[in-house]
Amino acid sequence: MTTIHILFGTESGNAEMVADDIAATLQSEGFETEIAELSDSLVPGLADMRLAVVITSTYGEGELPESAALFHEALLRERPDLSGLSFGAFGLGDSVYETFNNGIETLHRVLIALGARQIGETAKHDAASGEPADDLASTWAGSLMDRIPA
Ligand SMILES: Cc1cc2nc3c(=O)[nH]c(=O)nc-3n(C[C@H](O)[C@H](O)[C@H](O)COP(=O)(O)O)c2cc1C
Repeated sequence: MTTIHILFGTESGNAEMVADDIAATLQSEGFETEIAELSDSLVPGLADMRLAVVITSTYGEGELPESAALFHEALLRERPDLSGLSFGAFGLGDSVYETFNNGIETLHRVLIALGARQIGETAKHDAASGEPADDLASTWAGSLMDRIPA
C-alpha cells in the first residue's frame, strides 16, 4: 500500500498534534502513514512521494513557521516536478489576524504550481472558534479517505 506522508510545520506544537490525529485516523482505516516535520531536507525526496498531507500553522504577519519557510524556499529554488503527488492541505490559524491561514495558502500555491494535485478541500482551523483542532483534524481526515486515489 502507498504510504501517506504527513508533513507538518509548527511553531508551538499544535500542527504536530494535528499530524498525530490525522495519522491515527488514517491508520485506523488501514493506511500506512509516516510523519515528518517540513524542512528543506524533504524537498529532494518529494517528487517520489505519491500521497501527502501538508499541515502548517501561520505566524508573524501571515508567515510560515521557520522550518516550513525553509521548505517553501527550497521548493521555489529547486522546482521539483510534483506531477506524481496528490496532497491534502490542513491549515491552523486564528481569525483575529487579517492574514488568517495564509501559511497553508502559501504552501498550497507552490505545490499546485509544481504540478501536484489536491485531494479534497483545504481545512482551515480557527483558534478563535473554540473548536479543538483535533476534532476538525479527525473529521477532515475521515472525509479525505474516500477521495484517496487507489
Ligand atoms: C505571534 C503569533 C502570530 C500569529 N500570526 C497569525 C497569522 O498571521 N495568521 C493566522 O491565521 N494565525 C496566526 N497565529 C495563530 C496561530 O497560527 C495558531 O495559534 C496556531 O494554532 C498555532 O499552531 P502551531 O502551534 O502549530 O504553530 C499567530 C499566533 C501567534 C502566537
